[in-house]
Amino acid sequence: MSKEIVVSGIRSTGYLHLGNYFGAIQNYVHMQNEYNCYFFVADYHSLTTHPDPKALKPNVYRVVAENIASGLDPEKVALYAQSDLPEIPELYLMLNMLAYKGELEKVPTFKDKVRLQPDNVNAGLLTYPVLMAADILIHRAVKVPVGKDQEQHLEMARNFANRFNTRYGVEFFPEPEVYRSNQETVKIMSLDGNGKMSKSENANATIYLNDDDDTIRKKIMKAKTDQGPTEPNSEMPDYIRNLFLLMKLTAPTDVYETFLGNFNNCNIRYGDMKKQLAEDMINFVRPIREHATELQKDEAAIQRILRNGAEKARASSAETIAGARKLIGINYY
Ligand code: TYM
Repeated sequence: MSKEIVVSGIRSTGYLHLGNYFGAIQNYVHMQNEYNCYFFVADYHSLTTHPDPKALKPNVYRVVAENIASGLDPEKVALYAQSDLPEIPELYLMLNMLAYKGELEKVPTFKDKVRLQPDNVNAGLLTYPVLMAADILIHRAVKVPVGKDQEQHLEMARNFANRFNTRYGVEFFPEPEVYRSNQETVKIMSLDGNGKMSKSENANATIYLNDDDDTIRKKIMKAKTDQGPTEPNSEMPDYIRNLFLLMKLTAPTDVYETFLGNFNNCNIRYGDMKKQLAEDMINFVRPIREHATELQKDEAAIQRILRNGAEKARASSAETIAGARKLIGINYY
């Protein structure tokens, strides 16, 4: 039986952080043996915020290096740059004819961007979910490993797939589902309790895969906590739940359970918990940081990976676009 197709992407807009790792990359690594995986650097997506042309290449290389340092094997998956597949913008154009201004204006991530960059509300921002749908549908993927913040975009990709199929009368595109490793999609909050960890906001409350030991220690020690619970087995405030989640993801199980027990018995000392979490986090991030730094020194190797990845991905995207053109009626000779 042929393997199920998986697609996911990461924008090249800044340093990757724990949210990217636990929301997405960790699942890529789990999936690479069992699925037919297409993972890409979403460089076209990053253009919505008008990055400095000189910054694009190092940002793309860093995303590639950090994915590999996290355990992704470019021999097992197609790892490529979005802009290396001309079929993606072609499908994007086709899908734009089936996407409506009203539905695009309602997307929460669009509204956020309008708030954050009121002077640059470009059409690329508005049609961001359409480009994302094209990224996924170009390989006719069925599973998409992403963090919680991307769930709504996935729903739109399903709508566009469905609309295309209905319009042209065949089940050409499968409706892609969010891949969940253990039921829930992950959301890593920022350490100050304000929103999610993000590449471009709240740098002091975000742990990057590139942070050195001391920076990690400082950021964790500054994480928001409170006086602790006064009733046994209290519900955790979300910023405390986030610290426990990070501990669960990086510390040995017995350490996590001890602190959880302390919380439930109302004798938690957050200072001690943060000290412990900082050390476990350092042990977790350090090998990734060191490996990624090494990989970035060999530009030729990264170029080879991107070229090979694009070649693998193009075989599948060319087939999809040929099929889509035919269905639309673009076959003149
Ligand atoms: P991006 O680049 O913002 O993030 C990459 C991946 O990391 C996840 N993520 C998080 N997960 C949990 N907690 C967080 N704090 C957190 N922050 C980020 C994201 O959910 C994502 O999986 N639009 C996408 C890129 C994209 C894409 C695609 C993804 C473009 N085309 C097609 C999948 C399929 C984005 O901006 O991700």
